[in-house]
Amino acid sequence: MSEKQVFKPNKEFAKNALIKNMCEYQDLQDWATEDYEGFWGSYGKEKLDWMEPFTKVMDDSNFPFVNWFEGGKLNVSSQCIDRHLDTKKNKAAIIFEGDRGDKQIVTYLELYYNVNKFANLLKNKFDVKKGDRVIIYMPMIPEAAYAMLACARLGAIHSVIFGGFSAEAIKDRVKDADAKIIITADGAFRKDKPYMLKPVVDKALEGATPVKKVLVVQRNFEDVEWVAGRDYSYNELIDLESSHCDPEPMDSEDPLFLLYTSGSTGKPKGVQHNSAGYILWAQMTMEWVFDVKENDTYWCTADVGWITGHTYIVYGPLAMGATTVMFEGVPTYPDAGRPWKMVEEYRINQFYTAPTAIRVLHKMGEDEPGKYDLSSLKVLGTVGEPIDPPAWKWYYEAVGNNNCAIVDTYWQTETGGHVISPLPGATPIKPGCATFPLPGIMAEILDDEGNKAPVGEKGLMCITRPWPAMIRGVWGDKERFIKAYFGDVKKDGKPVYFTGDGAVYDDDGYITITGRTDDVINVSGHRMGTAEVEAAIKKHDNVAEVAVVGKPHPLKGEGIFAYILLKEDDGVADELEEMKAINAIIKIEIGNIALCDDMVFVPGLPKTRSGKIMRRILRSIAKGEEITQDISTLEDPGVVDTINKMVNS
Ligand code: WT7
Repeated sequence: MSEKQVFKPNKEFAKNALIKNMCEYQDLQDWATEDYEGFWGSYGKEKLDWMEPFTKVMDDSNFPFVNWFEGGKLNVSSQCIDRHLDTKKNKAAIIFEGDRGDKQIVTYLELYYNVNKFANLLKNKFDVKKGDRVIIYMPMIPEAAYAMLACARLGAIHSVIFGGFSAEAIKDRVKDADAKIIITADGAFRKDKPYMLKPVVDKALEGATPVKKVLVVQRNFEDVEWVAGRDYSYNELIDLESSHCDPEPMDSEDPLFLLYTSGSTGKPKGVQHNSAGYILWAQMTMEWVFDVKENDTYWCTADVGWITGHTYIVYGPLAMGATTVMFEGVPTYPDAGRPWKMVEEYRINQFYTAPTAIRVLHKMGEDEPGKYDLSSLKVLGTVGEPIDPPAWKWYYEAVGNNNCAIVDTYWQTETGGHVISPLPGATPIKPGCATFPLPGIMAEILDDEGNKAPVGEKGLMCITRPWPAMIRGVWGDKERFIKAYFGDVKKDGKPVYFTGDGAVYDDDGYITITGRTDDVINVSGHRMGTAEVEAAIKKHDNVAEVAVVGKPHPLKGEGIFAYILLKEDDGVADELEEMKAINAIIKIEIGNIALCDDMVFVPGLPKTRSGKIMRRILRSIAKGEEITQDISTLEDPGVVDTINKMVNS
């Protein structure tokens, strides 16, 4: 498989696809380019059911604070449920498979009842109202989706926290969002064993907290501590509520959710998405990129704690009235054939996962796909990091039987939905390449001066016009929002959205993402700020200074590599203890997902005379690369050689 190899869309598939060829793609993109508001206004009318119609498509007079579909009113939970009841009430909305193989099918009518009861419970028992922040810390069970949609129904702003985050991480987010309630579960099942979430919440709520109530879904029925007057059982209360709850009429720009993500400081930022623009793009990209048909079954393996789970397990599929699969377990248990067994059992048509999962499934079960009937598959997707050629090849051949398009979807928490991606019926695919901007998205690779980057030269991945699903703010921090996304790149003298990623055009105009240009790393598809890990490590008493960088990792994509200067360095025996103690602190401060793969105790860090740590040099050393940077301006150039010898000999 050479770099230049191009894979044309399957002809039979393309015949029935929503976008059938590159001419159709180009027509749409030309329309958007020539009449941006006409394009979006037309989709806004066609795709959404409005309680009150919008009067203005976009107002960017206060850029980067942009309003879409002004004057319009709608409710996102109604978009996802109520409007499908006439035609799909008995269609499966969610197919759930538990870790131990237990199955549950939730129709749209059942989803309606469950979400309405959930909303009534939140409203009547816990006084949750429009604008309140609600933390959701849940396993992958249908109740997580009900909780999100119930918040949307009431106009409350949910903030889902991934179940792998620690009590401290929850504490920070609770405080930043000033949340009044947490919805959680006692725990769930993983690899046939119960694991716990409620005790983590209990710990997060020790000391002063704005949270007054905790609603607990009992999933594994393990014993948990119960704080009287604070903790309530969902299972005991839910059936006392009525199954009808009027949806709150929401302005287009009323917030829908916050989702905390890592940036270049130690403090995660609460990315805010609002109602109309977000749900419109979630639905449109679902339809275009996965090309889901009426009787299809679609499975995205992400966790609801990440943006992929928000947009492509819950909101996108339900907004279009599709059937979405939710899976509680891990893809390699009981063996690395689990996903393929599920594809066969549920006749899955679209399968969406991360390169890190593909690499693990490949390594642990190369021949597993061959043991199952995967002929239902039509579209395969990847997300989160660039996919490497061996993983791509195996996915295409062994899983897709050389028949399925692989859509390499590039996007971010901040973009709300896909922004650069192949269209399965139209785009000739090049492995490892996100290809072209989706229609309506004015994505361009720019150089430092804001000019279009020349072919073959790495530039900055930017989006030059606001789009409906764009991040609306960093919760409580306007300055950070402006600085983090609109401070670096200008085009024609005007600031544009910079993703933080580098990218390059090839001769045919295809876009390949080359990775972050900032201090954000990508560990098993989880976004991690090196500053966050550094802040955690610094909590250890004996740590004087620390610098964290990413290092290529065969399965995880990137691993975490920490250079640590101890206050007292007493030799190797103690160092091992020290490493364990430092990882224990990371576990407490952030969670297992941020544990270091490598730690080295160094006598000093390479710094400029002004005191800035030269992370680029440390990245090169971690990779075992030759040091080509000029080190003569360092405070102590000799330290580079010392560290290099410690790491690479
Ligand atoms: C970062 C965003 C988008 C949902 C999952 C991650 C990287 C994402 C791709 C891709 C290369 C990718 C970027 C981006 N990324 N998709 N197809 N090819 N890199 O969301 O946690 O907000 O992370 O993931 O570096 O900035 P996220």
